[in-house]
Amino acid sequence: ASLVALSQAMPKTELHLHIEGTFEPEQMFAIAQRNQVALKYDTVDALKEAYQFTNLQDFLDLYYQGMSVLLHEADFYDLTMAYLEKVHSENVVHVEIFFDPQGHTERGIPFEVQITGIRRALEDAKQRWGMTYQLIMSFLRHLSEDSAFQTLEEAKPFLNWIDGVGLDSSEVGHPPEKFANVFAACRDLGLKITAHAGEEGPPEYVWQALDLIKVQRIDHGNRALEDDDLVAEIAKQQLTLTVCPLSNLKLCVVNDMTEHPIRTMLKLGLKATVNSDDPAYFGGYMNDNYQALIERTQISKQELYQLACNGIEGSWMSPTDKQKHL
Ligand code: HPA
Ligand code: ZN
Repeated sequence: ASLVALSQAMPKTELHLHIEGTFEPEQMFAIAQRNQVALKYDTVDALKEAYQFTNLQDFLDLYYQGMSVLLHEADFYDLTMAYLEKVHSENVVHVEIFFDPQGHTERGIPFEVQITGIRRALEDAKQRWGMTYQLIMSFLRHLSEDSAFQTLEEAKPFLNWIDGVGLDSSEVGHPPEKFANVFAACRDLGLKITAHAGEEGPPEYVWQALDLIKVQRIDHGNRALEDDDLVAEIAKQQLTLTVCPLSNLKLCVVNDMTEHPIRTMLKLGLKATVNSDDPAYFGGYMNDNYQALIERTQISKQELYQLACNGIEGSWMSPTDKQKHL
């Protein structure tokens, strides 16, 4: 079989996925209409035209605009279910989904509305297909640590629905150290910890994620490769990197897919995985990310298999679920 067919057939995990980044323009317009809110773009095509980014912030500006049409529990359910149906068709068997509570509470949408809708879709997918999941709330790093603490308070009634905590949004200028105290509080509550680091930010930010946030994995991590001691430390700790090839291309973290460092990461002994990040904005879901690597790099069958295995091993699923999926 071709490598593309093989990659499509492999059972896969998605460990780096922002649910608000799965908002397809067609669905965005449909929900905007039913909620009677206006979008800044007149048509689906006009919106898609705007999806040309030169950096992370270009994307984030549109990402926050897009999510602002989500008002009701049913909106969060429909968004999540559309994503789950899509990746179920791609042989994704386990998902770990980020949501950005502050992207909604700042607009007056209660935490409960968000999490109830997202979780109901995840539970339905589990019932229907045996798909397993973890739910991760992310703090927006362009906001204050006080705002993150406030969000943690709002999350407390739902802690049995929340598996972990992440850190996302504008990286440069908002180093992990800004959030050292709130992540300490999260760890004390038994939450698992991850953080975006080294997407645009320097290796120093990845060190801080390790030493101050005490992450159990790293989202992106590309720029860790600039620091040999850091690479050695990540390898020693066996930390998984949730790498996002099409995202890196669209946000100009790499200039061309042929230059993507994911194979270098594997050769250095790092536990890289393939993920889609914000597939509605970056031009592809899980299988598209594998296909881009296959078509644009010299990736081997063995490496593809390694990436998928790393996804199972690096996931936060329970040992029983791991057995089930292996
Ligand atoms: N990086 C930082 N913040 C984000 C991303 C990302 O790739 N996607 C959604 N929020
Ligand atoms: Zn991300």
